[in-house]
Amino acid sequence: MTTTKVNKRIFLSSPHMSDEGYEMEYVKEAFDTNWIAPLGENVNGFERELAEKVGSRAAVALSSGTAAIHLALRAAGVGEGDIVFCPTLTFSATANPIIYQNATPVFIDSNYETWNMCPKALEEALKKYPEVKAVIVVHLYGLSADMDRIVELCKKHNVVLIEDAAESLGTYYKGKHTGTFGDYGIFSFNGNKIITTSGGGMLVSDNEEKMAKAKFWATQSRDQARHYQHSELGFNYRMSNVVAGIGRGQLKVLEQRVDKKNYIYEFYKRELGELEGVKFMPSNDWDAPNYWLSSMTLNGIVRPSDIFDALEAENIESRPVWKPMHMQPFFEKYDFIGAGVSEKLFENGVCLPSDTKMSDADLTKIVEIIKGLWCK
Ligand SMILES: Cc1ncc(COP(=O)(O)O)c(C=O)c1O
Repeated sequence: MTTTKVNKRIFLSSPHMSDEGYEMEYVKEAFDTNWIAPLGENVNGFERELAEKVGSRAAVALSSGTAAIHLALRAAGVGEGDIVFCPTLTFSATANPIIYQNATPVFIDSNYETWNMCPKALEEALKKYPEVKAVIVVHLYGLSADMDRIVELCKKHNVVLIEDAAESLGTYYKGKHTGTFGDYGIFSFNGNKIITTSGGGMLVSDNEEKMAKAKFWATQSRDQARHYQHSELGFNYRMSNVVAGIGRGQLKVLEQRVDKKNYIYEFYKRELGELEGVKFMPSNDWDAPNYWLSSMTLNGIVRPSDIFDALEAENIESRPVWKPMHMQPFFEKYDFIGAGVSEKLFENGVCLPSDTKMSDADLTKIVEIIKGLWCK
């Protein structure tokens, strides 16, 4: 019998608990006090600490980022038949809650300058659908969207702005944290995010009244009464006290994680940036990105699939850029405004392994494998 030596897998982005064990301290406290649920001090603390970190007046800890988008749409008053603009280049979780509300998404293209929502396409969409109820903007891979122009357009047209900052915790636009420009912002703590709670999300806003309402909806819309009384549809969307404990610990190492993601990005850019046809994700003066996933496009003989295959052969994970929503079988019936930039980014894009646990030896190995493809 032959044995095959399998290399330890290098992930795109996987959970990375603090070396200091901060998370366990909070989780242990929840266990020691038997305060596993419901809610509890870790939930309150996590909300307070995250709101402070990003500079928002209020935060509600939820079971997922998707739940946070759903409640943001409800808070925005989005309902049956309403139009909601959504970037086409994103994860389906940005768009799904629009359907939960029986509303209609209209997908907006990216531009090359940001990879995010193109303000020109947004302007065109606002002309075509002046009745639009809300705009969701995403900060993809931790790059901020062109917020000055997007905020200005939303204000001019009096449209609610929701920021899907699931991938951009730690990213600042002109010194202000992403997720705090719109009426509502959301963050995700799922397993591949820059910090994780194993699963979870946060809704933030300066509108404390709406946030109290979101909290109410997230706890099954229980009216104030001794018995169980409900006058509105409710959801079971709150975060548990154990999960929030992980979040509090992770929040303490957010800056460390951002530094490492920046280091990974600079490493790749230095080593791969000059290869023929390679173009790295855009960088803009306004942006201090968290570089959640280091990504690039290829415009030459070496194709993205060559990289995916070569890395996978060495047990290393990499991935295409998000497949646009308007190309997805489930969403293709909805309108799309744009010039096909997102399609090109999908066709030519590569998300490189960006796990913060990687060593320099891991990074060197990855760039050597990739460079080898140009020498064939
Ligand atoms: C852009 C974007 N939006 C929304 C989500 C949804 O977050 P969650 O998985 O916490 O529901 C994710 C991540 O999964 C995401 O990447």
